[in-house]
Amino acid sequence: MNNPSPPVVPRILPRKDSSIVVLTGAGISKESGLDTFRDANGIWSRVSWEDVATPEAFARQPDRVHAFYNMRRARTRSIDVQPNKAHLALALLESLWPGQVLIVTQNVDSLHEKAGSVNLIHMHGNYDEARCNFCGAVVEWIEDMSTEDICSGCVRSGGMRPNVVWFGETPMGLDEITEALLSCDLFISIGTSGNVYPAAGFVAMARRQEQTHTVELNLEPSSGAMMFHEVHHGPATVIVPSYINALLAKI
Ligand code: APR
Ligand code: ZN
Repeated sequence: MNNPSPPVVPRILPRKDSSIVVLTGAGISKESGLDTFRDANGIWSRVSWEDVATPEAFARQPDRVHAFYNMRRARTRSIDVQPNKAHLALALLESLWPGQVLIVTQNVDSLHEKAGSVNLIHMHGNYDEARCNFCGAVVEWIEDMSTEDICSGCVRSGGMRPNVVWFGETPMGLDEITEALLSCDLFISIGTSGNVYPAAGFVAMARRQEQTHTVELNLEPSSGAMMFHEVHHGPATVIVPSYINALLAKI
């Protein structure tokens, strides 16, 4: 039995009415069994994002793009992929913390929702939804998707796509995210490599306010680790509950 990790001791504890913004990336879902993108053997080491995650790729080879997202959607919906202790700790924080807690996720899985988080923005969309390229209608979608599928809005086929944000497209909810970042007291980044903007720039935006404390909780230092006031490294299922428990012990 390996020794349990020492508890995370926050260097600075926010006031208990503080507003908190949490950014999450693929690393928070890794221990639920979902792949990250840029780790060794990550998704982008097996398929090129130019072939499956751009509007041009969808126009050029829609069947290839559908196959990529169908495989990932089915994987996320399989019974062995469940929220882990890190997702659950964030849901507990949202339910018990006296101040505002907003989760901004880059992930397109629904594990935060399944863990109980409510105040949540999917800035890269969610592949449990489909969007029509012709009329913009957005519907819940849990099965495989193909060019044969017909939009319930404009009744045309060939336009249904995963409601996710591809490279070159504008992330969702940026106005609300920016407002929250410019007014929060604590910014926590979890399980993201800090390689993709605008999310990689959120720590700099949060730091524009003197009072905002910034914390990175990641398996290893991200590309932006030096921008954070405080960093703790380790698996999300260990360091996130430990950090959240230390915050909640204060209320
Ligand atoms: N616990 C905590 N962090 C982890 C764990 C873990 N168990 N496993 C991996 N990580 C960390 C890695 O160290 C890495 O820093 O998670 C990060 C994952 O980085 P990426 O694979 O780049 O994923 P992410 O940062 O979410 O990518 C951002 O890029 O391709 C686009 O749209 C895609 O939303 C994605 C965006
Ligand atoms: Zn339509």
